[in-house]
Amino acid sequence: MARVLSCIQPTGGVHLGNLLGALQPWVDVQSADSFHGIVDLHALTVPQDPAELREATLELVRILLAIGLDPDFCTLFVQSHVSEHAELAWLMQCTAGYGELGRMTQFKDKSAKSESFSAALFTYPALMAADILLYDADQVPVGEDQRQHLELTRDLAIRFNSRYGEDTFVVPEPVIGTVAARVMDLQNPTNKMSKSADGDNGLIFVLDDLKRVEKKLKRAVTDNEATVRFAPDTQPGVANLLSILSVATGEGPDKLAERYDQYGQLKVDTAEAVVAMLEPIQTRYRELEADPGYVRDVLDAGAEKARAVASVTLARAKENIGLLPRA
Ligand code: TYM
Repeated sequence: MARVLSCIQPTGGVHLGNLLGALQPWVDVQSADSFHGIVDLHALTVPQDPAELREATLELVRILLAIGLDPDFCTLFVQSHVSEHAELAWLMQCTAGYGELGRMTQFKDKSAKSESFSAALFTYPALMAADILLYDADQVPVGEDQRQHLELTRDLAIRFNSRYGEDTFVVPEPVIGTVAARVMDLQNPTNKMSKSADGDNGLIFVLDDLKRVEKKLKRAVTDNEATVRFAPDTQPGVANLLSILSVATGEGPDKLAERYDQYGQLKVDTAEAVVAMLEPIQTRYRELEADPGYVRDVLDAGAEKARAVASVTLARAKENIGLLPRA
């Protein structure tokens, strides 16, 4: 069975892009050999309010449980509970080149937007590589925006192995879905749906009031072509609605397109499908909110299970690179 690892940052609410592009696939691939991390150390690359970060971390755990991750089956953990992540990240920083980190498009975009940024925003992909390599992951389900980071992880694993021992790391494969790997902003459909968008009219959050979800979808930007086709390059807004409807219904976007001749009806049906998908998640979320003890127990057990695997890989990497083991 393939070992699976995937992670998400606890920053600013889970949106439909995260849900359809990443989290729903986690539920589909979960197994006794899958690891799912909430990467709170990554969130610290930009300043965070401490109380908000703690709450965002718990919110994310509840969402993951509410969408169907089963902690009795897979391993659900918080990154900072497993200190091996930070330690292996140092070895990865020592393996990565300054030039290759500078070529990461996510770093270039984020650093261009702000006058001053942390050193960690630059070294972030080394921590991400550590997250993956610690678990000997064969497969890493992610959205399209993480493809470059995954390629860097593979390069670092191959480089480390060839320098210090082929037995050190498993070289992982990205698993990128075809339909919702890139859910777009509803107001600017040439941009991906992202927490860093200006305003939130183009984003649907998993915990949004359902009336608001309906409104945002009905106001989604389309175009003047007046024909429903799945053409992401020329009709990105319509294609985005078809992709969302496709994931919600399980039918292909091209097939769905044949059924519509008006944008209005497409928006109504997409809104209805998204509301039907989010409603049970929100109900389960509220039940979990009322049971904080259960959520903490899940995280304690997850940290133990994650650590048991991560500590073995870290020890192997430290030994192979030449750090002196304690007597
Ligand atoms: P993050 O927290 O931004 O996003 C979590 C996951 O959601 C996917 N995603 C999307 N998919 C489709 N459409 C969108 N609009 C969209 N926006 C986000 C992301 O591709 C991701 O799969 N660096 C990572 C977190 C990370 C990680 C890891 C991921 C840290 N360590 C190890 C995998 C393995 C990030 O910032 O994702």
